[in-house]
Amino acid sequence: MCGIVGYTGSSPALLVLLQGLERLEYRGYDSAGVALVEKGELYVDKKVGKIRELVRSLWGKDLKATAGIGHTRWATHGEVCELNAHPHTDGSSEFAVVHNGIVENYRELKEELEKLGIAYRSQTDTEAIVHLVALNYEGDLLKAVLKTLEKLTGAYAFAVISAKEPGRIVAVRYGSPLVVGIGKGENFIASDIPALLPFTRDVIPLKDGEVVDLRPDGVFIYDFKGNLLTKDVMHVPWDIISAEKGGFKHFMLKEIFEQPRTLSDTIRGYISRDLSLPFSLKDFRRVLVVACGTSYHAGLVGKYWIEKYAGVPVEVAYASEVRYSDMQVGEEDLVLAISQSGETADTRFSVLALKEKGSTLLSLVNVMGSALDRESDYTLYTHAGPEIGVAATKTFTAQLAVLYALAVNHTEDRQVKMENLLRVPHLVEEYLSNSEAVRELAIRYADRRDFLYIGRYLSYPVALEGALKLKEISYIHAEGYPAGEMKHGPIALIEEKTPTIAIAPKDRVYEKMLSNIEEVLARKGKVIGVGFEGDENLKKLCTNLIEIPPIEEDLTPFLTTIPLQLFAYYIADYLGLDVDQPRNLAKTVTVE
Ligand code: AGP
Repeated sequence: MCGIVGYTGSSPALLVLLQGLERLEYRGYDSAGVALVEKGELYVDKKVGKIRELVRSLWGKDLKATAGIGHTRWATHGEVCELNAHPHTDGSSEFAVVHNGIVENYRELKEELEKLGIAYRSQTDTEAIVHLVALNYEGDLLKAVLKTLEKLTGAYAFAVISAKEPGRIVAVRYGSPLVVGIGKGENFIASDIPALLPFTRDVIPLKDGEVVDLRPDGVFIYDFKGNLLTKDVMHVPWDIISAEKGGFKHFMLKEIFEQPRTLSDTIRGYISRDLSLPFSLKDFRRVLVVACGTSYHAGLVGKYWIEKYAGVPVEVAYASEVRYSDMQVGEEDLVLAISQSGETADTRFSVLALKEKGSTLLSLVNVMGSALDRESDYTLYTHAGPEIGVAATKTFTAQLAVLYALAVNHTEDRQVKMENLLRVPHLVEEYLSNSEAVRELAIRYADRRDFLYIGRYLSYPVALEGALKLKEISYIHAEGYPAGEMKHGPIALIEEKTPTIAIAPKDRVYEKMLSNIEEVLARKGKVIGVGFEGDENLKKLCTNLIEIPPIEEDLTPFLTTIPLQLFAYYIADYLGLDVDQPRNLAKTVTVE
């Protein structure tokens, strides 16, 4: 997830662009850059690292350009380096583009361009866009962009400027956000409203399939066929801080509600091609998953999928327990490190020790260029964008998506399974748009001091994850347990004031879960069920029922997790706690 800004008007564009990028830095901070039309020529500056590196580079430069575009990158394709930083330009440096999202067919486009003798300099998908615009340019930037759109597949938002048409910006929205800002004698574009608020509160959020032609004296919005559209201007009441949270009270809540898009972004990254790994899981004797916290729980879910579809034994271990053990690992083993930050010390140092014993190291990270990314033999990426809330939410479901893609990667009906996986973001959206009931339930139980979370099979790791969410942001004791294990001790904990959250989708262990719920009720326990909409059994049995849209067994973790994220969030918020930065915790634990 990257950040895009653009300005055209009568003020120096650079200041506007840098201020806008500062407000979008939460969307990604691998590198940043700007492109301006200065004295009839394109001026481009881009630097690896945070915006401040770019500011340092531009310091003291007397740039008078009154139009330009800017970008802060969260790398999806191509390593983190200056060459891959945006803006990207065509060979003649007459056009510049900044882009957020994924051009899925960029490999084919790159081949076509190279056959035309066009030098493709970077490792990014973005560069294909600017070369196509330059190729299609016949005197009108808007027409060149419309023609280019006919060649692109994927989910993207981009903005283009040209030295041939100073003061004009053409920008496109198709799957990634883009908002137009309306000023007086000046106009703006940005990936998100926060970047616009210092300059204007009058905005037009573009819809997918719309193109904006931005000039100082006017804004013209078209569909992809070039038909002029009439759009209403929206006045934003937000203050700047709340806008960075997109109007949400906390980053965690924003990130929970971002999951339909981050899941879609992540799945799309793998839907059109396989994982580009030079091996099949079947080439290994065993897969050893090593992770911490929420990433460990994702690994437990992945275990079921990999064993089911790849037929390879999977062991899931806490990283902190691996490092000082005498774990027997060798060349015939695949070590799969899961870490959203890619910087967790426990995970890094344990898998490096295993790698030294000869195993192959594959990592699943959310941050390109992170330590684990650099240190692994192979890396898979989630495309969840930077996660600001300390409690992992969107990165967990994004990890599940990639683990599922990995598990089914060599099945015959892989494409069918992956296209089916694309139903998940829509079902998550459906649930989130109707999730008010969880908030009321959370407030009702906010005074409890102990919770049990139980589940079986794919819902057992979800029970662990739900308990962790509650613990880490509300400081309430919560324990996740395999439901079948309750009778071996923990059932002694059951009493009226200790609610049990029972995750019971209609899967292969559903009937067993009903029995476990009965066991809890028989001991005067209260049960909050998480199950499919309209489940009459659960409605009869449970004290309260959280209903999710039905989905096939394999994909239930994507849906059962979401209400548990919200349940924890609403309790912590009701208790007035620091949801985004809970006590004693850090977003990335870089110490052992
Ligand atoms: C999850 O909500 C916690 N923030 C924590 O357990 C986290 O999952 C763990 O520290 C691992 O982090 P990583 O995925 O960045 O390695």
